[in-house]
Amino acid sequence: MTALTLSTAAAAGLRADAIVIGVAKGDRGPVVAPGAEAVDKAYDGRLAGVLETLGATGAEGEVTKLPAPSGFKAPVVVAVGLGAQPGKDAGFDAEALRRAAGVAARALNGSKKAAFALPLGDAADAGTIAEGVLLGAYSFDAYKEQGPQAQGAAKGSAKAPLAEAALLGGKPRDKAYKAAIDRAAAVAEELNRARDLVNTPPNDLNPEAFAAIAQAAAKEHGIKVQVLDEKALTKGGYGGILGVGAGSASGPRLVKLSYTSSKATKTLAFVGKGITYDSGGISLKPAGHNETMKCDMAGAAAVFAAVVAAARLGLDVNVTGWLALAENMPSGSATRPGDVLRMYSGKTVEVLNTDAEGRLVLADALWAASQDKPDAIIDVATLTGAMMLALGSRTYGIMANDDAFRAAVHEAAEEVGEPAWPMPLPEHLRKGMDSATADIANMGERMGGGLVAGLFLREFVGEGITWAHLDIAGPAFNEGGPFGYTPKGGTGTAVRTLVRVAELTAAGDLG
Ligand code: BES
Ligand code: MN
Ligand code: ZN
Repeated sequence: MTALTLSTAAAAGLRADAIVIGVAKGDRGPVVAPGAEAVDKAYDGRLAGVLETLGATGAEGEVTKLPAPSGFKAPVVVAVGLGAQPGKDAGFDAEALRRAAGVAARALNGSKKAAFALPLGDAADAGTIAEGVLLGAYSFDAYKEQGPQAQGAAKGSAKAPLAEAALLGGKPRDKAYKAAIDRAAAVAEELNRARDLVNTPPNDLNPEAFAAIAQAAAKEHGIKVQVLDEKALTKGGYGGILGVGAGSASGPRLVKLSYTSSKATKTLAFVGKGITYDSGGISLKPAGHNETMKCDMAGAAAVFAAVVAAARLGLDVNVTGWLALAENMPSGSATRPGDVLRMYSGKTVEVLNTDAEGRLVLADALWAASQDKPDAIIDVATLTGAMMLALGSRTYGIMANDDAFRAAVHEAAEEVGEPAWPMPLPEHLRKGMDSATADIANMGERMGGGLVAGLFLREFVGEGITWAHLDIAGPAFNEGGPFGYTPKGGTGTAVRTLVRVAELTAAGDLG
């Protein structure tokens, strides 16, 4: 990952491949953002005019490269758009800053060192810019044989991420600045690892492989880990996880990660859907619907990353992560539509559609999490295409059995720059899941399919436990081009929300 430093150096004297500055969209053309005063001065105060001549407007996502003024050691200035100029006395919105830093970092991939002269007023800004840089510089090229790791990289192949970023205007000896940078690095590193897991092809990341990665990370960070394999799942009666995994040559796993703090007064449980590949099973998905289904473990990846980040940050809250891992495949041993599964909670479920598998693995994991009586449970899942239709590909849906908790999680999401929206759990949709044979069916009405799934999950949350469900089917995997600090492919959605919820809980500030 990109190495970060805080620097008090003057822009002109800095040895770097480029200097990044911000440009905002003003009423009468582009405006040079604070932080770039020295650069502007070296252009005799005409930088805004020069940028306008080059076509820059200050729009979000815009990158304009120009030769550095004489006397500068760095050869290039990279001007990145920050969007609308904030009103008088107002600073730039944190997300605008984070995105601009990400865009610049991605534009600089292939370079060794860049100096960032973006608006940096306090330690929080330093953390924001650092996060944008580290997330924006991400690239996944483990499978590119002609990529940067290979000798004699082919023309047009992926570029190595920016190696070093110096944040100008930062105070390297100030504790708050250093803490902000360290937090950004821990969160971004784990988030990028979640992206790697999502991007890893499903022939290499099966439930067993995912569990082994979780075990190794847990060991490294002092997290207690327990892995239930098929034998243990059978013995324990985890019919949901076993039923979904039954068709695959790679058996299912349930991983429990426990981070504990001696100063904790609260315990959070995070539960992740970890379908390492979702073919739909016997209710097979048609071509056109399964090419991206390696992303169906994004919830488990987010939970895993959040628990490790909480441990690395040493938060004063206990965080338990549950990874419900299975591969959903059709075969002679697969669960059939019509089968009835006896779940870990004791309830029976008639499987009407084997493609509604996420709720089955989550049901067992939610019930398992409930046995520890945590103060709250949050599950994260690429659960329904319906949620994607409702909210699009950049916003996730939040459902909950508690209005205040749903609002608090939503607030945390917006605060960290993860667009989310509250969704209801309408009681009338429950009867659509009534089954003639079993206690409940795994499918109900088609209309409001995301909410139906939420209602199904609610049945497997222990009595009296506060619970929220994040359906990240839309934003978990970016099928379009990169934007802001979000790459193509796995995005790491929900990691920062979970970490923020853990931080707020540790501080006694949630809700
Ligand atoms: N993993 C899918 C949901 C999904 C779709 C995630 C698109 C990301 C992108 C889930 O397991 C699924 O197949 N859901 C079905 C449920 C239906 C059969 C009730 C769906 O949404 O169509
Ligand atoms: Mn499915
Ligand atoms: Zn699925």
